[in-house]
Amino acid sequence: MENFHELLMQRRSIRKYTEDEIPAEDVKLILEAALVAPTSKNSRPWYFVTVEDKKVLEELSKCKEFGAGSIAKCSLAIVVLVDPMKSEAWIEDAAVAATFVQLQAEDLGIGSCWVQIRGRMRDDEESSDDYVKALLSIPPEMQVECIISLGQKGEERKPFNPEKMLWERVHIGEWRPQE
Ligand SMILES: Cc1cc2nc3c(=O)[nH]c(=O)nc-3n(C[C@H](O)[C@H](O)[C@H](O)COP(=O)(O)O)c2cc1C
Repeated sequence: MENFHELLMQRRSIRKYTEDEIPAEDVKLILEAALVAPTSKNSRPWYFVTVEDKKVLEELSKCKEFGAGSIAKCSLAIVVLVDPMKSEAWIEDAAVAATFVQLQAEDLGIGSCWVQIRGRMRDDEESSDDYVKALLSIPPEMQVECIISLGQKGEERKPFNPEKMLWERVHIGEWRPQE
């Protein structure tokens, strides 16, 4: 896409994908985007695990009861994890990298959805974080922030409507209580 603002207005979470693969060169660009994301004190505390194996994707989609369905039929999942010892701002660092992944994907016409892992439970006993770590042999000291499911778009979503922006959330110069 030529215009960055247009890209932002068009990006929507895509949870349904076609069977078409993501070309290897696009996967490389998406990972490159993650690796240039800014981090606190340039700590770069993140790691990324890519998963394309259908069976493993199916298992990953069981990481929580609701909200992980997009992983089951995606072509690629990028698990965004962090070593929290490397940065006190690790949540923000991970979130920025995940956002870069989504924006780069959108620029390539690839659909994506954020699946939250940090702070979520798989069931009464196991956290989603522990489940994902066990499935992918991720060391216990790591924290999984989220999984980004990616694939060629299998659904159409309306772009944002500029008429419906939440401008009341913007306070100019100082906070002014809303009437
Ligand atoms: C921090 C965060 C956590 C999210 N967690 C999930 C999730 O677990 N499952 C899911 O399907 N979507 C998840 N989403 C996607 C949101 O539901 C989506 O961005 C929101 O509904 C707005 O829709 P849009 O992305 O199409 O603009 C998450 C998004 C963010 C930023």
